[in-house]
Amino acid sequence: MKFLIRTLHIAIFASLLLATVLAPSPLFAQEASEGASLVMEHRCYACHDMDKALIGPPYLAIAARHAGHKDVMEKVLATKIILGGGGNWGMVPMVPNEHVPEQDALVIARWILGLPPSR
Ligand code: HEC
Repeated sequence: MKFLIRTLHIAIFASLLLATVLAPSPLFAQEASEGASLVMEHRCYACHDMDKALIGPPYLAIAARHAGHKDVMEKVLATKIILGGGGNWGMVPMVPNEHVPEQDALVIARWILGLPPSR
């Protein structure tokens, strides 16, 4: 009986451990939007943060600046994400990110433009 209980405990412990290991990390949690994981995947975080200016402007500031013309900006931002460019935020231009497929760039642009104005 004791042996059985111990075995049961080990089995429960093992499955809990497995569940923890297999569970997606919060960043890639299923409910996290595709755009949010794409900017991680494509390493945009080297220059962009949600609400702090790094080398590039924060995503929330980009969303706020283009809030009035989201429809046009979706394609414009997607193109700029891939080809790079400057002149909108200061002296430093964005490097080209040619490893980003156009489809991903569009999803990212849509995600940025859809961010809430203030959090
Ligand atoms: C080496 C640094 C760097 C990296 C890496 C980088 N960016 Fe940028 N990004 C910048 C800078 C600098 C600007 C400001 C450009 C300007 O003044 O127009 C910028 C601007 C932007 C803008 C706003 C453009 C506008 O005209 O308002 C978006 C959107 C953007 N980046 C998305 C991305 C995404 C998505 C990635 C990842 C695929 C990325 N960036 C990677 C530096 C970077």
